[in-house]
Amino acid sequence: MDWNAWHDRYDVADSWMARRLRAVQEQARLALDGAPVGPLKVISLCAGEGRDLLPVLADHPRRDDVRARLVELDPRNSGVASEAARRARLNNVEVVTGDAGLVDHYRDMAPADLLLVCGVFGNITDTDIERTVGACGQLCKTGGTVIWTRHRAAPDCVPLICDWFEGQGFELRWLSEPDAGYGVGAHRFAGAPRPLRTGTRMFDFVGYDVLRQEDAARLSRP
Ligand SMILES: C[S@@+](CC[C@H](N)C(=O)[O-])C[C@H]1O[C@@H](n2cnc3c(N)ncnc32)[C@H](O)[C@@H]1O
Repeated sequence: MDWNAWHDRYDVADSWMARRLRAVQEQARLALDGAPVGPLKVISLCAGEGRDLLPVLADHPRRDDVRARLVELDPRNSGVASEAARRARLNNVEVVTGDAGLVDHYRDMAPADLLLVCGVFGNITDTDIERTVGACGQLCKTGGTVIWTRHRAAPDCVPLICDWFEGQGFELRWLSEPDAGYGVGAHRFAGAPRPLRTGTRMFDFVGYDVLRQEDAARLSRP
């Protein structure tokens, strides 16, 4: 999978990706609108080119209160994100080229006011989704928001993900319609953040293409 080319469909007007991006951006804007007065922290896992966050931050009244860390493995994408942050003069946005599954990247950023886990849950195993949702209770502040995405192809895992968030003390704020062509959720953390388990890993990013091949191979076995 070319994760740089993956972003191209964002530029196709009214594609499912363009519509999903608008939904994520809208939820990010609402989360910032409702954030408490004072400095804010934002974390984005597998941030890609930062399209879900950077355009929102660029013209948001809270932009200068925000310190953000975007973690993205592909240097082409992290390069685009860094350049976008520089052009928007978002001086407190740091783009790290690295493995977002490693909790240590968030040492000095957790717990955050806003956590983006977009384009991740369709690319990792169910076991890792559940583990990552568990870690959101370490990464998110009380009252903070996590915005996440997941495709809705069968078997639709979105209801299970919502159950996992609720089991960790999150409350559902918004969920896209089942027939939207994508899945976007926003959960607010009502619990108390747990200490960050440094040295641990939340997920291995497998890729939806590989996961699909593995499923097909499993189903074709006698
Ligand atoms: C589906 S895209 C989502 C990008 C972005 N979050 C968005 O929604 O626009 C997944 C991204 O994860 C990146 N990626 C893959 N493995 C990663 C890893 N282990 N750590 C960080 N990023 C990773 C890919 O390069 C790609 O940019």
